[in-house]
Amino acid sequence: MDRQPSLFGEAETASTQVVARFAPHFDAWKAQARRLLSDETSPERVWWEADGERVAASPPAERASTPRVPKALVNMARAASCHRSADRWALLYTVLWRITHGERHLMQLGGDPDVARLTRYAKAVRRDVHKMKAFVRFRAVPEPDSEDGEPRYVAWFEPEHRIVEYASGFFKRRFANMRWSILTPMGCAHWEGAGEVWFSAAVDKGAAPRGDALEDAWRIYYRSIFNPARVKIRAMQSEMPQKYWKNMPEAHLIPALIRDADRRVADMERQTREQDAPRCGPRPASPDTENAAAIARATPASIERLALQAKTCRNCALWQPATQTVFGEGPSDARIMLVGEQPGDHEDLSGRPFVGPAGQLLDRALADAGLERERLYLTNTVKHFKFDSRGKTRLHSTPDDTEVRACKPWLDSEIGLVDPELVICLGATAARALLGRAARVTRDRGRPIAWQDRRYLLTVHPSYLLRRGHAAANAPDYRRFVSDLSQALRWSA
Ligand code: URA
Repeated sequence: MDRQPSLFGEAETASTQVVARFAPHFDAWKAQARRLLSDETSPERVWWEADGERVAASPPAERASTPRVPKALVNMARAASCHRSADRWALLYTVLWRITHGERHLMQLGGDPDVARLTRYAKAVRRDVHKMKAFVRFRAVPEPDSEDGEPRYVAWFEPEHRIVEYASGFFKRRFANMRWSILTPMGCAHWEGAGEVWFSAAVDKGAAPRGDALEDAWRIYYRSIFNPARVKIRAMQSEMPQKYWKNMPEAHLIPALIRDADRRVADMERQTREQDAPRCGPRPASPDTENAAAIARATPASIERLALQAKTCRNCALWQPATQTVFGEGPSDARIMLVGEQPGDHEDLSGRPFVGPAGQLLDRALADAGLERERLYLTNTVKHFKFDSRGKTRLHSTPDDTEVRACKPWLDSEIGLVDPELVICLGATAARALLGRAARVTRDRGRPIAWQDRRYLLTVHPSYLLRRGHAAANAPDYRRFVSDLSQALRWSA
């Protein structure tokens, strides 16, 4: 029998099939899904037809009485709706139908094929958005009609999914003061410095500008943040896949920088030995504020050199059982610095801050707060892992005042060199080390504190949320943490 679909929203024919035709947007899909649900139209009867997959402004969502769906699912569905696969709309409806027809806890069944596919789609989209935020590179293009003489900043980006509209809020917030356009083969977004972001049809690469003076700035910036002592080629390739390189002016520097890394590290180590050995060589294992003051006086001119010096720090006894010094990491001109307490087990083994469970929760919260980890400088109050051994397990032990004091010159020097606009203290140890013993995270969190020519923001440590159990990631505590972090965008602008 020929399928004779009715056009959904108009009078239905006798056919059992229904065509839901809509602009390819989550809100438009939601309005259709609501109507279908209230008519008890089961997923297998629906034929989803998204008009031409163009980018256009979202129509306002219609209100109809439909069962409530958890916000986390709506967020996941919104992300999945940007996936490039044509079956996403039907999948969204199937999941919605099942949840509202007796399978309320469906999303907890990670092994269910529909749930697994939806999760995979949302994850792929979020990853694509993350890449877009990191790899969009604007070029200045003169605008003949502009009243203020300012150029328009135009970027070309090739996303894997239909994320232009979904990701545009981030660019609006981040680049609020400039006029910009992001051109992609899946639609374009434009911002005029006020009002709303608007969207236009896809273009091809020929429409994008090629090269301007900004490219030199990107190259200089990249060369200066490239740390030869921390080259991890595999991690780099997975973070910055080669397919993005062609649109990134700094990318062609990478092979030469990698080739040169060993020689630069050897040079840096030699220089450090020659110039700083008397002040920073191995020292007796006792807290020694004299040593600390000497380090502060001897602050070298770059974060890389400071990190090398810290490798041999013996200002307190913590260096002995620890595997290595875990120094701060991030761009040396970051506008926001986050300061934790001390490295944990994973950080001690890998030599990098915030890579263990607390770091992963922090990553998630940063992303939810609209902050990109790659643009932040992350460090700790104390640079060695302090632990108690229980058999093979190493249990975190809070650093005491003498250890915090012994390590403080490193932190002061990091803050001095990076010179951030805002320092976020994660937890009481960082807050007290930087603001004094009177600082109280529970009382003072989430609001700017001006102290000695710098601004600080206090919030809880992500380990605090982890200690509160698995549900913490969805709990009000987590949301408050994200809200505290999101204040940083406002105060560092
Ligand atoms: N906790 C911290 O304070 N810092 C880390 O790097 C990891 C966990």
